[in-house]
Amino acid sequence: PGFRHVPFNDIAAMREAVTANTCAILLEPIQGEGGVRVASETYLKEVRDLCDAHKILLILDEVQTGMGRTGKLFAYEHFGIAPDILATAKGLGGGVPIGAMLATDKVAVGFQPGSHASTFGGNPLVCAAGVATLEVLLEAGFILDQCNRMSGYFIERLEYLRDQFPALIREIRGKGLMLGMELATDGDPIVRACLDKGFLINCTAGKVLRFIPPLIVQRKDIDQLIEALRGIFSRLP
Ligand SMILES: Cc1ncc(COP(=O)(O)O)c(C=O)c1O
Repeated sequence: PGFRHVPFNDIAAMREAVTANTCAILLEPIQGEGGVRVASETYLKEVRDLCDAHKILLILDEVQTGMGRTGKLFAYEHFGIAPDILATAKGLGGGVPIGAMLATDKVAVGFQPGSHASTFGGNPLVCAAGVATLEVLLEAGFILDQCNRMSGYFIERLEYLRDQFPALIREIRGKGLMLGMELATDGDPIVRACLDKGFLINCTAGKVLRFIPPLIVQRKDIDQLIEALRGIFSRLP
């Protein structure tokens, strides 16, 4: 029982960790708390092949990356693979607390009603919110299109900042509206300075500012944030 942790994007370490007792591999296709780190397509395909070769399950944690956040309904769609089990939450309820575990038909036969129970899990009220959120999200692709358009604009503006502050900003990365800016310095003071200006961002893995705006964010919102960051960066010692 239990998990073995292995370095991300390192297929040799993953192969090494799999034994005859391994039942599944669980990972985030884009690590959130780990610092907005995107799995490589090759890595995810090799992990999928490894699972198939050993007849073990691939479980994707899409709690952060799911529900349109990366510009597709689920992030795995960017990588040409599919999981056996997927966890989703956060965006799923459009503001109400709901999480869900999805499984392929083949895997789902291993479950019966009650085998994955929780007191408030699966209650009709939040499920209705989840269905409504999904309907709006998929309505003629409108929100996903908007997410991809704004992603392109946001990345362009973050790269503009990187060009202005090359010693401070190491990398811009991410997909859709899950973007990270790796700094050469501690990100917390910048998060606080943004909050003082009315922008709620956060910092993961010490030095990575994470931007996960609403999927309906507008250009003017992005422009205001970029301007605030420019001011904050130019006042850093
Ligand atoms: C990627 C990821 N997985 C899992 C969780 C835990 O989700 P829950 O709070 O729904 O158990 C979180 C919470 O932030 C998360 O970011």
